[in-house]
Amino acid sequence: MTDLIYLTDSYQKELKTKVVSAEKRGNLWEVVLASTVFYPEGGGQPSDRGTITTKNGKAHVKHVRMKGELVIHECTLEGMLKPDDDVQCVIDWNLRYHNMRVHSAGHIVHEAIKKISPSLLPKKGHHMDSAYIEYAGSLPIDKKYAIEQESNTIVGDKLPLKTELVTLAELQRRSPWAPEHLPKNKPLRILSIGDLAPIPDGGTQVKTSDEVGPITITNIDNAGDVVRVYYSIQTEGPKEASIESENSMKAPAFIGLLLEAQQNAIREMETSDASAFELRLQLLGPKSELTALTRQMRQVPAADRQQVGIVVNQVKKAIEEKLTERKTPSSSPNKTPTIGTARTDTFDVTMPGIRPPAGHLHIVSQAIMEITRIFERIGFTRVRYPEADWDWYAFESLNMPVNHPARDEWETFFIDYPGKPGKDPHKQKMVLTPHTSNGQVREMEKGNLPIRMINIAKCYRRQIDVSHTPMFHQFEGLYVDKNVSIAHLKGVFDYFAGAFFGPGRKTRLRPFHFQFTEPSFEVDITCGICNGTGILAGGTKCRLCKSGWLELGGSGMVHPNVLRNGGIDPDVYSGFAFGWGVERTAMMKSGTQLDDIRLLYDNDVRFLEQF
Ligand code: DAH
Repeated sequence: MTDLIYLTDSYQKELKTKVVSAEKRGNLWEVVLASTVFYPEGGGQPSDRGTITTKNGKAHVKHVRMKGELVIHECTLEGMLKPDDDVQCVIDWNLRYHNMRVHSAGHIVHEAIKKISPSLLPKKGHHMDSAYIEYAGSLPIDKKYAIEQESNTIVGDKLPLKTELVTLAELQRRSPWAPEHLPKNKPLRILSIGDLAPIPDGGTQVKTSDEVGPITITNIDNAGDVVRVYYSIQTEGPKEASIESENSMKAPAFIGLLLEAQQNAIREMETSDASAFELRLQLLGPKSELTALTRQMRQVPAADRQQVGIVVNQVKKAIEEKLTERKTPSSSPNKTPTIGTARTDTFDVTMPGIRPPAGHLHIVSQAIMEITRIFERIGFTRVRYPEADWDWYAFESLNMPVNHPARDEWETFFIDYPGKPGKDPHKQKMVLTPHTSNGQVREMEKGNLPIRMINIAKCYRRQIDVSHTPMFHQFEGLYVDKNVSIAHLKGVFDYFAGAFFGPGRKTRLRPFHFQFTEPSFEVDITCGICNGTGILAGGTKCRLCKSGWLELGGSGMVHPNVLRNGGIDPDVYSGFAFGWGVERTAMMKSGTQLDDIRLLYDNDVRFLEQF
């Protein structure tokens, strides 16, 4: 069993120890030491790199992994290294310290999430580039700010991060949560941040929370039954990193390693008498130095990866070309299988394919699906009505006769109806529906009571500016039955607010006027960022709502005239209705303030892929 120094001291950068074994596998050496300071990849943290030096040689550690109870250091080797040799190990401290900070940040973010949404069950952490923590369950995306604030409070509080080696019984007693599979091949350890409950952990951690520096919650991604909370930290830490500011995984350093791998491969080709097939496998196959390096590409900042990717391809091509040029030495017996001979048209079946970019639904489509699902749960059915409809359904039947001034609020597109209008007074003029309320009387005309409809459709108005697009979406709810009251309306709104925006959100009704409802209201919802107070933790005004409330849209009790127009007796039945904008509601959920709403329909993938 390799003695794991990093488990008890994550700041130890060097170590004198002995070689237990050293074997050449493909192009790399697999070195086992009596004890190690190198962190083997695991628990979501990438492995360390560095050097192992002996009297007669120097091994460059490219990747480290656990195999049973042994730590395998995968290295390239200059000179000699053999069992029993005394060695001096030095880890790449910049890389380690960065990995440590990212890992500790993950635990801090987890503590913040636990406070904000205690019921979420952690599944795994990914503490590298594009770092995230994954939970079973879901989390409203506007919790982003609260989690970020809470995380940075922990950072600012300079809390100690303490690790302790424990027995299984002790771990189960002290940690309220443990992963399904605890490691069997290494000592168990728990980590506690300040007085917070300990949690099992085997990674390397900083000593105090402020070493992590500011944390940003970059995204909350709900997919199926799991949610990933993505976070990032600043590349340079506030303390240690300023001493050694150069992060060795920046593109130039990584490119240096790639070129070194290319040199090693060329040297190998010049000296080895292996067959072309064997050499190809050794230099480009899954166990090659180049493949080991490309696996670590995610440690390069995302912005530089394209540049590094180009060099990876160039190095691969250079090795390929050299392999093709190289003739199998005529003296060696030709044991090469035909498919492996150096032909220019060989096809490397081990090479990973190129994934086509995968898209996702537009944020408005996502919101429409979610809104439909939420209302379906309480018995509403989604319906569809024409988007080019008679003026009667869009206005007249809604208590707005021709020439009524209230119509002016809907900047309506009237459209030519082919042919002459017939005798039916309700089928005279046509409009592009300026709101989804045209569905109300159409639904009533079906004659099925009670009515619980949700009509989601495109709407059109003659408006285009930073807060209007000529085409947008609304969702219209209508509930008609005996004894429907304002209490039902309020109950449904509170249910929707909780289901769509997250638990704890409340609604309020403000008196308003619409022709088709009496009484009429505008509905507001408590702001998710300041929890309805209008004030943030430090006493500053909330930048999203300013008042604690955000406006959702219009609603009211259906006007008796409208019920009559739909053939329903207002003395027996009553109902409520509401009509809200999909775009607005969706943006409110993500907490995004768009300076220009037209961006939603510009079809610029760089913008759309953020949602
Ligand atoms: N149709 C209205 C609009 O576009 C919104 C609305 C208000 C719909 C009140 C309703 C309602 O159903 O009851 O501004």
